[in-house]
Amino acid sequence: TVWQQAFPDGKSPQRVLVPPSPYAIFLVLTVRPGFESTAKDFLSEIAGLTRTVGFRSREDDLSCVTGIGADLWDRMFTAPRPSDLHPFIEQRGDVHTAPSTPGDLLFHIRARRMDMCFELARLIGDALDGAVDVADEVHGFRYFDERDILGFVDGTENPEDQGAVDAVFLHPDDVAEDSALDSAEAGPDVAAAAAGAGAVPGNGAPGYPGSTYVIVQKYTHDMSGWDELSVEEQEAAFGRHKLSDVEFAEEDKAPNSHLVLNSIEDEDGNDREIVRDNMVFGSVGAEEYGTYFIAYAADVTTTEQMLENMFIGDPVGTYDRILDFSTAVTGGLFFVPSQDFLDDPDGELTEAGLGIGGAASAKVDGPDIDNGSDVDPA
Ligand code: HEM
Repeated sequence: TVWQQAFPDGKSPQRVLVPPSPYAIFLVLTVRPGFESTAKDFLSEIAGLTRTVGFRSREDDLSCVTGIGADLWDRMFTAPRPSDLHPFIEQRGDVHTAPSTPGDLLFHIRARRMDMCFELARLIGDALDGAVDVADEVHGFRYFDERDILGFVDGTENPEDQGAVDAVFLHPDDVAEDSALDSAEAGPDVAAAAAGAGAVPGNGAPGYPGSTYVIVQKYTHDMSGWDELSVEEQEAAFGRHKLSDVEFAEEDKAPNSHLVLNSIEDEDGNDREIVRDNMVFGSVGAEEYGTYFIAYAADVTTTEQMLENMFIGDPVGTYDRILDFSTAVTGGLFFVPSQDFLDDPDGELTEAGLGIGGAASAKVDGPDIDNGSDVDPA
């Protein structure tokens, strides 16, 4: 399939684009100070562990995508951060807030069976025992007809096939002229300055083809409030019909509907797209009903713009109606390197002329963004 192809320069992406899986575990870990090299060494073991579990039932299609947070990148590598890797940007609207919460490593584990997901999560936990803390762990499942727990079909407008590949993966051509990769020829200082200043916007990450970025947020829902709405009011919140999933005509969509605020274009009028794979989770006893939001994008500013539209509003104050029934309790941004990078980070960094790993001595400051590290995950 198109998403399994290697890129022209031979960099294989991680298995981000897989057919919809009935189960997923989202595991967010923080790495304890002093255990950076343990975490780094573990990166190259993930593929083997995934094969070990997955081979026991190959038809159940176990996959694992690994993401690296901004702080951990700086602690593990001297090489400059990928240009769009920074802590999740908190969105604080007048009414609703998207918090930024701690996270060094993200494991997005998917399979056709929960036991496969769980076994891999367990082995990851065992391997990193003593080196990490679990910041958040969500066991998600696919709900009727691919619906979220609010009752709406979720994922319909995701790009597919080549469109998904283009939306998600950094391509060698995306590397901007003034990127760190190019300026590395001028010396490591120039390269570090270019990348550290966040000088390369959007798709122009400094030389990490086959990689991508991911944003995750755990949402809990006020189900009784939502259920008090009429179906028509619920449909207006999304801009789609509930039963049929048919989209409203453009003129019938409310300005504060989820679809209007999340349909964004670049200056040439092209759709700016992301690939989502949300999952339902919940607990009857805890009266917790949730959506785990996860979105991959080569240009993470696309997802960030959508979040700003939803929480701050577009125009300001016209925030997303679904937030009146949905509370964001976590928020994280991670770099998802190519599989080649994960298998041999130092080798890949050296090949790209970006320095090597090891305890960061000459740290390069990223953009000055509040990482909200004083916010506890719920
Ligand atoms: C569309 C649910 C959060 C971005 C949709 C749709 C549903 C949905 C039901 C319509 C069908 C579809 O195309 O998938 C939810 C729920 C969320 C959530 C329950 C959390 C409580 C987010 C967030 C973002 C986002 C945080 C972006 C940062 C999008 C986009 C679309 C979409 C881009 C497609 C819009 C279009 O082109 O028509 N979502 N979503 N969603 N959502 Fe969300």
